[in-house]
Amino acid sequence: MERKTILSQVKMLEFTKKGDLRGNMVIAEGNYDVPFDIKRIFFIYGSSDDVIRGQHANLKTEFVLINVAGTSKVKIMDGKGNEIIHYLDRPYIGLYLPNMLWKEMYDFSEDSVLLVLCSEHYDKTEYIRDFKQYIEIMTNKERAVK
Ligand code: TYD
Repeated sequence: MERKTILSQVKMLEFTKKGDLRGNMVIAEGNYDVPFDIKRIFFIYGSSDDVIRGQHANLKTEFVLINVAGTSKVKIMDGKGNEIIHYLDRPYIGLYLPNMLWKEMYDFSEDSVLLVLCSEHYDKTEYIRDFKQYIEIMTNKERAVK
């Protein structure tokens, strides 16, 4: 059986909407709608459209990104020359990212609020912030499993 590539593990999640006359509600439960236990959240707002955020990979943490307001783009790379760009523009859509993906968030609209759900607590030692080092790790990983 062919091994699953890291980019093929990326998926868009559609959350349950409970709208009524009072307004909209979107529900995302850890281990049900989101494929991990949510240990941390953070959100990014007030980033202008010329800013690139992220630019790192995480050894352990999995993420779900939701533009709860406004829009942004997310570029993800696997360190082997493959990349995908996702456009986040709906508050009920989450982008699931496994660990060990290189990610960049950019093109934030003025009203963008990007909510990020995380599978782990913050640990700066699990961040790979050097793209060359990331490529090396991914190349060596592939060699090791061949
Ligand atoms: P950074 O990783 O640079 O943000 P982004 O991924 O959006 O580019 O984080 C900015 C700062 O905040 C940096 O000093 C690390 C710190 N930080 C925490 O302390 N806890 C967290 O959960 C996160 C995501 C960042």
